[in-house]
Amino acid sequence: MKSFYVLTLFPEMIEQTLSYSITGRAINDGLINVEAVNIRDFTKDKHRHVDDYPYGGGAGMVMQPQPIYDAYKSIGERAEGSRVLYMSPQGRTFDQSMAEELSKEDSIVILCGHYEGVDERVIEEIVTDEVSIGDFVLTGGELAAVTIIDAVSRLVPGVLNKEESHENESFSDGLLEYPQYTRPPEFMGRQVPDILLSGHHANIDKWRREQSIIRTYDKRPDLLEKAELTDKEKKFVQQLKNKER
Ligand code: ADE
Repeated sequence: MKSFYVLTLFPEMIEQTLSYSITGRAINDGLINVEAVNIRDFTKDKHRHVDDYPYGGGAGMVMQPQPIYDAYKSIGERAEGSRVLYMSPQGRTFDQSMAEELSKEDSIVILCGHYEGVDERVIEEIVTDEVSIGDFVLTGGELAAVTIIDAVSRLVPGVLNKEESHENESFSDGLLEYPQYTRPPEFMGRQVPDILLSGHHANIDKWRREQSIIRTYDKRPDLLEKAELTDKEKKFVQQLKNKER
């Protein structure tokens, strides 16, 4: 069982978003466990405040350390020794290899910040990894947390069924996916490539592999550097490059 404990001011954002589709099914089947812990439940403030003005002045509010620390402690033994991810644009950028790395953990704790930030001392005390989902600024860590939980969950054995399985997906071998088609054979005058209707599976596999390489070359040439290519495929890439001139 893979457990995700999310420390947040908006537990519904986590629970509801993940209740749909494949993650929802995985939760119902007991393949993953998602527990959102409401930081506000741990405030000792009579007005239930969880934030305060920043020392030194400046705009915005800062989340206080005590409710976050107590929310973390409430998970207890179940999260002992687990990595604690703090969602922040300052963190290491999340990618497929980090998703694979995290999918090997038994449980993960994720701290979502809001307002202008979180008191540095609680970050120092509990956080093991600062993680960003990209070079942009969100209003809070919740959307980043569900993004990570989604990407990690689909790597947990049993979460994807055979049809959904990730053998041929983008990034698994460092290439983008080949184009897909379904019925009808003609749409708005555009035909499905003949080869896909041919029934020659070896030729189809070859065509798809070539299309993956062409797509990666066109859309994300940076990925080709690290992609797993045979010598023949490397020559094919060279041909694509030569064609341009
Ligand atoms: N919180 C705000 N922006 C973020 C980002 N880009 N990634 C992760 N957490 C965030």
